[in-house]
Amino acid sequence: MLQTRHLTMPAIGLGTWPMKGGECEAAIGTALEIGYRHFDTAEMYGNEVEVGRALAGTPRDQYFLTSKAWWDKQDGAAIRAACQASLDRLGTGYLDLYLIHWPSPQLDLPDALEGLARIQADGLARAVGVANFPSALLRQALALNIAPLACDQVEHHALLPQAPLLAVTGPADMVLTSYTPLGKGEVPAHPVFGPIAAKHGATRAQVALAWAMAQGRVAVIPKAASAARQLENFGASRVALDAADIAAISAIQTRKRFVDPAFAPEWDV
Ligand SMILES: NC(=O)c1ccc[n+]([C@@H]2O[C@H](COP(=O)([O-])OP(=O)(O)OC[C@H]3O[C@@H](n4cnc5c(N)ncnc54)[C@H](OP(=O)(O)O)[C@@H]3O)[C@@H](O)[C@H]2O)c1
Repeated sequence: MLQTRHLTMPAIGLGTWPMKGGECEAAIGTALEIGYRHFDTAEMYGNEVEVGRALAGTPRDQYFLTSKAWWDKQDGAAIRAACQASLDRLGTGYLDLYLIHWPSPQLDLPDALEGLARIQADGLARAVGVANFPSALLRQALALNIAPLACDQVEHHALLPQAPLLAVTGPADMVLTSYTPLGKGEVPAHPVFGPIAAKHGATRAQVALAWAMAQGRVAVIPKAASAARQLENFGASRVALDAADIAAISAIQTRKRFVDPAFAPEWDV
């Protein structure tokens, strides 16, 4: 469990993109049985109705739910309307965390942050934050001191360690939520993971996720459709990497970004 002054969040969540319809609903059902209590969705994923349906039988205070405003919402009013629409589709009264999904170049940052602050103050979301904000933009948003930013959700794994961003989120007591933490399944294939996994009686994917979570206030949201992979990923919390393991993985020099749409901001690395 991750705890900051803004939120308490299970360190492993289930990513739901690009699952839709019955596949998404079934995946959340098996994840709940395994013990997942943290789910990540967004208006853009087109699966909020199914996410809400799958969670309907679980008491609301028993799980942590994140959603996000798509990047065409460029001011506070649009972001608030998107949040309310997400709540309606999800069939819940509040989100645990509500994020701006991507920083559009047209984003009116102060007004958007005012919108997030009001969303939090009015109880639509327990905590608010951003996604895909590189370190300079996050610094700028924090310096405005308008919204209590709890999280920056970004791509993060051993091939994209996000050191400049962690240098901002850490001192700000923010969570970095690690999306695409398995690099779509490609990261655990790096040769460094094999011997470390063998040493711990763990899988390569578990070691990759454990490394991410060892970076300090980092949550991971791997997507897995099958119960078998969900169970495997959930078991990452039991893998206790030692300093030598972490140093060996952190020494990887290869850099690769898997999510880089045309509208992405200028990245740190
Ligand atoms: N904020 C953003 O802009 C943003 C962007 C991208 C993603 N996200 C969030 O992050 C979540 C995860 O990211 P992602 O889906 O891009 O990438 P990911 O979680 O790194 O990789 C998912 C892929 O890895 C496979 N996989 C899962 N567990 C595995 C295991 N133990 N061993 C080997 N392969 C495994 C999955 O297989 P199956 O096909 O069998 O499930 C799927 O093909 C998304 O679902 C979404 O919620 C957010």
